Amino acid sequence: MTKITTCIFDAYGTLFDVAAAARELANEPGREAFCAVWQQVANDWRLKQLQYSWLRAVARDHCDFWNVTGDGLDWALERAGLADAELREALLGLYWQLSAYPEVPAMLAALKAAGVQTGILSNGSPDMLAGAVQSAAIGDVLDAVLSVEDVGVFKPDVRVYDLVGQHFGCAPGEVLFVSANGWDAAFGAAYGFDTLWVNRAGEPMDRLSGQPGRVASDLTGVPGIAGGE
Ligand code: LAC
Repeated sequence: MTKITTCIFDAYGTLFDVAAAARELANEPGREAFCAVWQQVANDWRLKQLQYSWLRAVARDHCDFWNVTGDGLDWALERAGLADAELREALLGLYWQLSAYPEVPAMLAALKAAGVQTGILSNGSPDMLAGAVQSAAIGDVLDAVLSVEDVGVFKPDVRVYDLVGQHFGCAPGEVLFVSANGWDAAFGAAYGFDTLWVNRAGEPMDRLSGQPGRVASDLTGVPGIAGGE
């Protein structure tokens, strides 16, 4: 087996816990109307955000992830009958105050201690990603934060996955690509990365051309996998 030299992570839902931020907002005093429907809004928001990214990639109609995120939220809030400017701003503001999942700092530190290169590869725009990395305090244990804005198209276009080799000078087979999005892990596997799908919710596997080589319920096993387990 090829030695893993580089571990690359998807951002939202993989390293950064977007759902926890929305749940905390929903539980603030005075947000009872949102609290009653927050899970539906959060699901619709994520689904629309991703659908718009895929549709814009197929239609060659790129705009950055911040716009796609706002458009998805507007759809979700309208559907819930909660089109309210203050709530919209508060929800979008969460993207600048995200926490990492609890196991992330130690996991990244263990990779760095083992001499593995680490990076993010995300649809997020560079400013969104810089904000989240700072808020989660993981900048010291990341060698690179790669954004699709360098190629102007969203995942799973192969030009996005190409950014890893271009930046790190490594072959796809030396890369462990880690994503909580089943479709992202599937296309990463089809691209030639060694892949880990982080399936926290126990969802069925996506029916796509590639299949992730590994599945786990959190990120704790990543240093072991990179070390050859
Ligand atoms: C990302 C989204 C897809 O970070 O989670 O690219």
